[in-house]
Amino acid sequence: MELGFYASSEQLDREAAQRIIDLIHNKPGAILGLATGSTPLGVYEHLISACRQQRVSFRQAVSFNLDEYVGLPSGHSESYRSYMNKMLFRHVDFDAANTHLPDGNAPDLEQECARYDLMIKEAGYPDLQILGLGHNGHIGFNEPDQTLSSRTHVVRLSEQTRHANARFFPSLDEVPTQAITMGVGTILKSKRLLLIVKGSDKADIVHRALTGPITTELPASLLQTHPELTVMMDEDAAVHFNRNYQR
Ligand code: F6R
Repeated sequence: MELGFYASSEQLDREAAQRIIDLIHNKPGAILGLATGSTPLGVYEHLISACRQQRVSFRQAVSFNLDEYVGLPSGHSESYRSYMNKMLFRHVDFDAANTHLPDGNAPDLEQECARYDLMIKEAGYPDLQILGLGHNGHIGFNEPDQTLSSRTHVVRLSEQTRHANARFFPSLDEVPTQAITMGVGTILKSKRLLLIVKGSDKADIVHRALTGPITTELPASLLQTHPELTVMMDEDAAVHFNRNYQR
């Protein structure tokens, strides 16, 4: 596990974006696992300016997002497809056909999960998967539970997650109750994982996830089992870590 501590969130974003840019330079057709939410926004901004300055091109790159809400009408402003278009894809030179998210409106959701998982497998799994961390320790939408589904599956969102995401919707009632998410098994198949954690509100959960027992009750703790895990934290998120901490 590689831990990176950053004095500012801006510094963290720049470094995370640079890792992605370096990957694309070494492998223009790299597969990127992408996330939504607040956490990666700064990273995407850096990627957009790098692409505008022709310091990186995503023309040959492929992306798979972690998750998508179930049942939001196509084109809904809060679907993760809309988020990705708005926050990244529309501003860079990705071939739209190479950007993938689960279809939360598929008539047969089980079949859609199997199709998405197979597509990721056939592509060879992401070279780099970006992850944010939920306040309850979720990754993707893998919520704390006694057991976790390994592959892409439909999940019922916890009330805590619905409340956390309500800030993006006119009211809590409009936050979907279900989503499709890559399972932890699929996430762990990525060649490298980059977990980004910002803010004092995540200080406890990130510390427990990385130093506590590995348990499905804290899904991010399973990341400890990945041989190529990088965690980037801003100062506020890293308060419980000894900065010389090494595993
Ligand atoms: C997003 C995702 C979620 C978020 C997590 C943190 O695609 O899979 O696991 O990464 O909920 O969200 P933010 O970044 O908004 O705090």
